[in-house]
Amino acid sequence: KAIPVICLDGPTASGKGTVAAALAQQLGYAFLDSGALYRITALAATRAGLALDTSGEAAIAALAQGLDIRFEGERVWLAGEDITTAIRTEEAGINASHVSSLPAVRTALVALQHSFRQLPGLVADGRDMGTVIFPDATLKVFLTASAQIRAQRRYDQLLAKGDSANMSDLLDDLQARDARDMSRSVAPLQPAQDALLLDSTSCTAAQAVQQVLGWWQQRQ
Ligand code: C5P
Repeated sequence: KAIPVICLDGPTASGKGTVAAALAQQLGYAFLDSGALYRITALAATRAGLALDTSGEAAIAALAQGLDIRFEGERVWLAGEDITTAIRTEEAGINASHVSSLPAVRTALVALQHSFRQLPGLVADGRDMGTVIFPDATLKVFLTASAQIRAQRRYDQLLAKGDSANMSDLLDDLQARDARDMSRSVAPLQPAQDALLLDSTSCTAAQAVQQVLGWWQQRQ
């Protein structure tokens, strides 16, 4: 019997990360933050002086395949260096969105993503978990929220971290990133045909977790 997987896909700042981590915690499952892999790849590529576009594609893909990454709870390590905060900036997210549109880079990260599928199960957070990486997942959820509320959540997060932020810049960045993620030729952001839609515009993360858990129990 296949190892169970719950996929949570959706646009930037839809709350997937929070919901997915809480689900993994409650179910005692492994957790895959696939966005982090693109963020780490972008960071490593930038440091290597590679252009984050088609001219750097082959080199970035090669680099992605050899990444020495370690996840430890909330922290992420790249070749022994704690890069937890370095990959969480707005710039790191935008760079991730550029490298993620390169097909060879996506292919290079497939095996690593599959390796997270371990007993007793996996919660996978991303854009193409249900459509490309785990098409046979037990449950696929597509989480959305209005652009306005997503920008607001991102703004609150940045301020809580002590960073400065500008609402209208955030909204512009978020919409540009969504457009790039939805229009790319490989693995565009879209709900899987068999995904259940969850709009979190007017619900809390805890309510979203309860909804997904309810769906999950129905599948057992
Ligand atoms: O989810 P997060 O904001 O960390 O993702 C950063 C970027 O990585 C996204 O904007 C998207 O372009 C890309 N990504 C992707 N496929 C995934 C996860 C993230 O293309 N499965």
